[in-house]
Amino acid sequence: MPRPLPDDLLKLPHRRDVPFAKLTTLGVGGTCRWLFEPTTEGEVQSFVRACVREGLPYKVLGGGSNLVVLDDIEIPVLRLALPKEVIREGTRLSAPASYGHIRLSQDAAKAGLAGLEFAAGIPGTTGGALRMNAGAYGRELVDVLQTFRFLTPEGELVEKRPEPGEFRYRWSFLTGGHVALGYTVALAEGDAEAIAATVAVNMEKRGTSQPLSKRNAGCIFKNPTGSSAGRLIDQAGLKGFRIGDAEVSPEHANFLVNHGHATAAEFAELMATVREKVRAVHGVELEPEVEIWR
Ligand code: EPU
Repeated sequence: MPRPLPDDLLKLPHRRDVPFAKLTTLGVGGTCRWLFEPTTEGEVQSFVRACVREGLPYKVLGGGSNLVVLDDIEIPVLRLALPKEVIREGTRLSAPASYGHIRLSQDAAKAGLAGLEFAAGIPGTTGGALRMNAGAYGRELVDVLQTFRFLTPEGELVEKRPEPGEFRYRWSFLTGGHVALGYTVALAEGDAEAIAATVAVNMEKRGTSQPLSKRNAGCIFKNPTGSSAGRLIDQAGLKGFRIGDAEVSPEHANFLVNHGHATAAEFAELMATVREKVRAVHGVELEPEVEIWR
């Protein structure tokens, strides 16, 4: 039986019993019992400090576009609802962690600032992009990251420049109780038309190779070093393999799509089947790229 939450936590903006189907792009999962949506950095800090004091674990949710939730989540879930303000200083843009990642790359393109074109089709929040070091087309967020702000798992506010080892392929140290608050990207003066053209080319590539019209969570598995998870799954003959309404996309084998009424259990089974088959055919152990909550 989960224990009651303390009063100071309950004073922060929150909602009860929100289905994860509404909080994730994949559209499956159980119920989020406690969804905390602080609107200021101060409230975020109060949330973390209250949880630390109570010894209460919590999870951090961004745009829910890289997440597969398999069960009900009884512990508090934090989803930032900071003001949607982007600050421009010269060629630098600063955004809060709850800002849309695609929107930030559009802001940059409109302002004639080059460097975020790769991010044009990457969904989710800037905080999620930071946490995962989101990337595409050979570029990743850390390439343009100048400074970032976060709370430590103890609730201490830190703002710093990225250092070697802090960000790798689809990985950063901002896990386990860290909360990303925002970041500044260092871009370059560019030609708005040329930037828009690069964005259009990237979006076109994405549109033709990825099943964007179906509910999905992006690529499900990490690319093993020197290889492609999509190709390995494809060569294992799994395109179109379906369990209920969960399917290995016929367009891109590293996308699992929800045809409308898939359940978390169907996705769990589909992911396990894909891993087993790829292990049997190629001798390769695929590692999830998405976050899995259970
Ligand atoms: N391929 C197949 N069959 C498939 C899918 C891909 O043979 O079903 C082959 C392609 O023909 C290509 C190779 O595999 O030769 C790589 O495919 P693709 O260019 O689509 O790139 P990817 O490695 O599958 C990565 C990222 C994507 C990102 C694209 C574009 C990972 C796990 N995936 O995909 O990121 O959008 O490059 O840069 O790193 C994500 O992170 O969620 C994601 C979708």
